[in-house]
Amino acid sequence: MNTHARGISSRWLFPGILAPVVLAVAAGVFLRATANSGAVRNLHLVFHDPRARAVTVVWNTPHRLERPVVRYHQVSGDDSAPCAHAAVAPEIEQPAVALRDTGSRDWRYRATLAGLEPGARYCYRIADSGGAIVDYRAFRSAVRPGEPFTVLAFGDSRQSKRHRNSPIRRSLADAIGREDLPHLTIFTGDMVDDGSSYRQWVQWFADFSPVFERSPLVPVYGNHEAKENKHEVVYYRFFPSPGGGRWFSLDYGNLHLVVLNTEVPYSASPWSMWQEQARWFAQDMERAAARPDILWRVVACHKPPYSTGHHAVEKDSRDVQRHLPPLFDAHGVDLVLSAHDHYYQRSYPLRNGRVTDRSASVYRNPRGVMYLVTAGAGAPLTHGAPAEWVAKYREAYHYCLIAFGPGRELVITATDINGDLIERVRIVK
Ligand SMILES: [Fe+2]
Ligand SMILES: [Fe+2]
Repeated sequence: MNTHARGISSRWLFPGILAPVVLAVAAGVFLRATANSGAVRNLHLVFHDPRARAVTVVWNTPHRLERPVVRYHQVSGDDSAPCAHAAVAPEIEQPAVALRDTGSRDWRYRATLAGLEPGARYCYRIADSGGAIVDYRAFRSAVRPGEPFTVLAFGDSRQSKRHRNSPIRRSLADAIGREDLPHLTIFTGDMVDDGSSYRQWVQWFADFSPVFERSPLVPVYGNHEAKENKHEVVYYRFFPSPGGGRWFSLDYGNLHLVVLNTEVPYSASPWSMWQEQARWFAQDMERAAARPDILWRVVACHKPPYSTGHHAVEKDSRDVQRHLPPLFDAHGVDLVLSAHDHYYQRSYPLRNGRVTDRSASVYRNPRGVMYLVTAGAGAPLTHGAPAEWVAKYREAYHYCLIAFGPGRELVITATDINGDLIERVRIVK
């Protein structure tokens, strides 16, 4: 269910000195929230356009809600009184398509919380005619260009018949919850084993609910969601892309983030879809290059252009290795986030397949692309072979926090499930 908050930092739940106020209100809704346990599922936040000063709350319920409403307000460590509450009635989609392993249809709700002050902390709460059904959840609104922010990146949490991994996922969510609340979360794909299984999706959202209910999610489409693209209708129902396409970009602060789809076949038909994605990428990056407020260019794609795991020799991975790095070199990409091989592996900055900077942890104008495989969110760990371009490797469940700014630097901190540091890396421009 979505209303638990195992081990989550009090900063995530009750930010600032408003804690007593929020606590008192939350206590009043606790019984109702408990009584409704399981009623709300798949609750998460998304930004469709971070610069539109809005965030969208999305969830499902098995029964139609009566007069649902989402209330939200700003909270501040400097201000003991909440700003005026705003309320929005969610849009209701007609009952979701009955998915393969469900006996019922779910209702799906979306509420856009608009008019957000940039770079602020907010709380939201969902209620229906009977009272609160989700008590307060904190989140951060998008920052202005130039202001510092932190992105959580992790991925590959899929289970298997022999690998039931909810305890691992929940421990990881708890470890992330002990960090400062990230502004944004990128999940690098392979969320579930079988993208057509609604039960697996419900479990995935529940296991990571402390994260996804509080940090707007940017999902990346993996091969387990795709299953040869048979199930993409399920995935895109959960995560409709901005613009409705299979690939997209968004701007957050001074970051231009591009999400590519590596599950589009390269060599067989429709090869033209890959050419279309490559053409779109070039145009998108040219537009980003023309904007002075963009400093960082990050790409997220499920299959890694550089990786030494057992997937690396497969034909579809070799296509990714061949086709993507030249595009990234040509358009000044700083960092690529991927998954697929289940470990942590980071490259030195690379250009034309060659290392441009062999520093251990600080890279000043590296003139190359750093490739990071972050695929330790619960899928069975696998092994990566050594290579001369590998700067850091760890076979561990883990997550990454990427701090953009202050100033012209980003800092990647990779931490394992026990809270132990894997590495900290700086890129300075
Ligand atoms: Fe994968
Ligand atoms: Fe995977």
